[in-house]
Amino acid sequence: MTSANQLLEVLYDCRGMFLTVGELLARSGLDERRLARALTSLRERGHVIEETPLAGLRLVCPVNLDAHLIERELRTLRVGRNAICFGEVTSTNDVAFDSARQARSDGLVVLAELQTKGRGRLGRKWVSPRGANILMSVLLHDAKGQLPDEALTIAAGLAAAEGIEQVCGVGPELKWPNDLAIDGAKLAGILVEVRGSLAGRQNPRQIVIGIGVNVNAAPPASVLGRAATCLADQLGHGVERIEVVRAILRQLDIWIAEIQHGQLEDLHGRWMARCGMLNQRARIASGGREYVGRVLDVSPLEGLILAQDHGAAVHLPAQTSSMLE
Ligand code: BTN
Repeated sequence: MTSANQLLEVLYDCRGMFLTVGELLARSGLDERRLARALTSLRERGHVIEETPLAGLRLVCPVNLDAHLIERELRTLRVGRNAICFGEVTSTNDVAFDSARQARSDGLVVLAELQTKGRGRLGRKWVSPRGANILMSVLLHDAKGQLPDEALTIAAGLAAAEGIEQVCGVGPELKWPNDLAIDGAKLAGILVEVRGSLAGRQNPRQIVIGIGVNVNAAPPASVLGRAATCLADQLGHGVERIEVVRAILRQLDIWIAEIQHGQLEDLHGRWMARCGMLNQRARIASGGREYVGRVLDVSPLEGLILAQDHGAAVHLPAQTSSMLE
């Protein structure tokens, strides 16, 4: 491990607290010369380290997104073995797709402090201030077609809800197809995009799961078109993004393995347990039509199953559907 990462681990594990130079030397195992170089290198990476003559040094919160802190001891099978963090990108989903030709890019996680062209589902914009929230994409190679995008949308929403609950203790509800909400206000959204094809040797199927979580800032209702919330507002204090990212990646890794092995029952059960839509009335736009009825189920492979007021039950796929109320 580099000296900078050794020091970063010590500072991060005691984040917010001051450590004297003596304590830093002892905890990191570095000598004074390497400690000084490591500090410079961390500051060059964008970390803000406060230094006072009496109290010592501390890492200022919220901590800059950092690939080492995200990857370390993550212990996942597939997701997040490699992470890259950017200051600014157009969209993390685009960067993830652009990385697909690189070696060992399956499971790559791309994060950014700011997106200039962040996008939501169905051509909507996803707006988030610099450095406040989670803007993250996971790239998956799916040459064998083992990962249906319908199931991944469900899995990503569930993983995000579970990860948030593990770290913050608040349990967001899931709203089909891609929303996480608290008391009806939007907390997070999922955008699953697919490129390439199963038949395409030149251009094999790649999937990017984009996850946006309002951690320390929520967009105004005028921008989103409906009420939004963030974790900091729910908890009454700022929230460290890295811990939330790690918890979401761990859960996503579990659910992706289940999908790959065709085991969808647990995913379905856990998703439904967090979704208050069962038996509720819904109005849904899908494929240019409007459907009205009662929600019978959400299938990880076939989408929302709606008992129509007028007509037979229909299966509405996540990719092309949106809730109207
Ligand atoms: C939605 O609710 O409409 C989905 C929002 C998805 C936003 C995330 S942020 C990270 C990733 N990059 C993007 O451009 N979009 C997704």
